[in-house]
Amino acid sequence: MDEKKRIFSAIQPTGMMTLGNYAGAIQNWVKMQDEYECIYAVADLHAITVRQVPADFRKNAMQLMAILLACGIDPDKSLLFFQSHVHQHAELAWILNCYTQMGELSRMTQFKDKSAKHANNINAGLFTYPALMAADILLYQADLVPVGEDQKQHLELCRDIAGRFNGIYGDVLKVPEPYIPKVGARIMSLQNPTSKMSKSDTNVNGYILLTDETDTIIRKFKRAVTDSDAKVEFKEGKDGINNLISIYVAATGKTVEETVKEFDGKGYGDFKLAVGEAVADMLAPVTKKYNDLLANKDYLMQVYTKSAEIAEKIAMRTMRKVYKKIGFTEK
Ligand code: TYM
Repeated sequence: MDEKKRIFSAIQPTGMMTLGNYAGAIQNWVKMQDEYECIYAVADLHAITVRQVPADFRKNAMQLMAILLACGIDPDKSLLFFQSHVHQHAELAWILNCYTQMGELSRMTQFKDKSAKHANNINAGLFTYPALMAADILLYQADLVPVGEDQKQHLELCRDIAGRFNGIYGDVLKVPEPYIPKVGARIMSLQNPTSKMSKSDTNVNGYILLTDETDTIIRKFKRAVTDSDAKVEFKEGKDGINNLISIYVAATGKTVEETVKEFDGKGYGDFKLAVGEAVADMLAPVTKKYNDLLANKDYLMQVYTKSAEIAEKIAMRTMRKVYKKIGFTEK
């Protein structure tokens, strides 16, 4: 009997992955593959809560699939598929919508942020986004969900929804735990270290994309906003330096203490260059693998098709149980 705990997580195909996604989530996705049964999805259903251009959307989704494999998601160990290919995600989302309160959804900070940003398209999907996310997780009875800090509130709501459902119908849905890294859970913009690194930033120097070239990476780090202390230490108020330390830790595997010691007495110029080089070194093999994988569409299709088939079987088990408990007439 397989006693491994189960992991579920997903990422939206709204453009190339950033260093924030990588340090906050994907690095853990990769690390957890040996110890856990891992199920990962490209969250394309979530992505249409913001308007997408079909051709770009399709391209972004495939590129994300390729970069996830290039990062080290191993299809022999884990499932990796498109969320829209397993229709049970949308189906359970509808059901969970009926067990989620308007008040809960309106408290979500991501909803508030995104409605401010896309004021001309505050659609119902954007509002009920966390119910779909809860469906993603609960469908697979996941024990743990590796995410960055920004998804914590959605995870808490997912736990509340599962608890509420179980409260009515008995033990149907596993209540999952978030799995958030100690360092790297919130990588900040290199240009504005009080806001999170995001590819939707209008300033391209604020974020690192996994496919950025080495010299672009080094240049962006050289321009990173710091402070005037000229001391590499992890301390409240030193947002820019704290962020660079977190990135260095994520890229090298060193601890914060080791990093601070290593750069004791050195200037910010040296530190920024070292961070840039560490990130470039970490990403160079990923980019190379990515280009090879992207050229092999048949292989990608084989991975996501097979994974979706297996995922669907697991999802069906939960759906059957949920339908029965709710009281739907059996077919
Ligand atoms: P998304 O696509 O915005 O981000 C994917 C993952 O990257 C993390 N992340 C960050 N971590 C650290 N620093 C940052 N600057 C940073 N930016 C992003 C996110 O926390 C996330 O873990 N709703 C989700 C996708 C999703 C999902 C799910 C996640 C859909 N269904 C079910 C978990 C479980 C999202 O938009 O992530």
